Amino acid sequence: MGRRTPQRYRAVLTGAGGGIGSAIARRLAPQADALLLVGRQPAPLAALRAELGPQVQVVCGDLTAPTTLDAIEQAARAMGGVNLLVNNAGISQFHSFETQAPEAMRAMLDTNLLAPMLLTRRLLPLLHQAPAAQVVNIGSVFGLLGYPGFAAYGASKAGLKGFSQALRRELSDSAIEVRYFAPRATRTSINSSAVNAMNSALGTAEDSPEAVADAFADFLAGTAWQATMGRKESFFVMLNRLLPSLPDDAIRKQLAVIRQYLPK
Ligand SMILES: NC(=O)c1ccc[n+]([C@@H]2O[C@H](COP(=O)([O-])OP(=O)(O)OC[C@H]3O[C@@H](n4cnc5c(N)ncnc54)[C@H](OP(=O)(O)O)[C@@H]3O)[C@@H](O)[C@H]2O)c1
Repeated sequence: MGRRTPQRYRAVLTGAGGGIGSAIARRLAPQADALLLVGRQPAPLAALRAELGPQVQVVCGDLTAPTTLDAIEQAARAMGGVNLLVNNAGISQFHSFETQAPEAMRAMLDTNLLAPMLLTRRLLPLLHQAPAAQVVNIGSVFGLLGYPGFAAYGASKAGLKGFSQALRRELSDSAIEVRYFAPRATRTSINSSAVNAMNSALGTAEDSPEAVADAFADFLAGTAWQATMGRKESFFVMLNRLLPSLPDDAIRKQLAVIRQYLPK
C-alpha cells in the first residue's frame, strides 16, 4: 500500500466515547490541530477532552437528530474547517431476522447508514475547502460477508460500503477521498453477551479496540480505498466475492452453533 504525505488533521469523529472511537481519538489526537468528538453520553467525551488536551472539542447529541448535525456543522466551522470525517458511531443487534423488531432494524439503518450519509452531506462544503480531505466510514466484515443473526446490521454496513464507493467515484475529480474501513469482531460493548459467548464457542478471533485504532492509523496513512481487518476475514471476503458457495458451505456448518446463541 502506498503512503501519503503526513498530514495534520482537523477531524470530526463520531462515536468517540465508545470502544473503537475512544481508541481512534487517542491515536488521532497527536496528529490533530483540532479534533471534534461526537457522542450521546457526555461523560466519556468529557474524560477524553481532559485527557487529550485543548485541541479537543465535544458535541453531545444523537446523530439521528437534525439538531445534532446543526451543532456539528457549527462547531466544525468554529474550529476552522475539516479535512477528516470519521463516521464511526454505530449500533448492532444480533437477532433472528424473523422475529427482530422493525424498530430495531430501522434504528440500525438510521444510525449506521443514514446518519453518516447526512453528516457527510452536511460537512461536504467544509471538506471541499480543505486542500485535501478524507471521509472514512467505519464498516464491518459483516458488511462484506453476510452472516446469520446480522441481516439488518449487515445490510446497514453493506449499504455504507455502497454509499462510500459511489460517493468516492462521484467526488473523484475533487480533493475529497471517501474510504471504507472494516473491523472484524472487537471487544467492545456493542457486542451482547450472546455474541461474546458465540464468538468463544466458534473460536472467532477478536481484536482489542487499540489494535483496531493502530490498523486504522495505518489505513489513514496509506492509499487503499478499503481495508478489512484480519487475514482470515480478508480471505473469506475475497472468496465471498469470487466463489460465494464456499463461504455459504462454511457458514452453514456453523449454523447449529450460531442458533444456540441467536436471540429469538
Ligand atoms: N466491536 C465490534 O465487534 C465491531 C466490529 C466491526 C465493526 N464495528 C463498528 O465499529 C464502530 C464502533 O463500534 P464499537 O465497537 O466501538 O461500539 P461501542 O463501544 O458501542 O461504540 C459505539 C459508539 O457509537 C455511538 N453512537 C451510537 N448511536 C449513536 C447515535 N444515534 N448518535 C450518536 N452516537 C451514537 C455511541 O455513543 P454513546 O455511547 O454516547 O451513546 C458509542 O460511543 C461501529 O460503527 C461498529 O458497527 C464494531
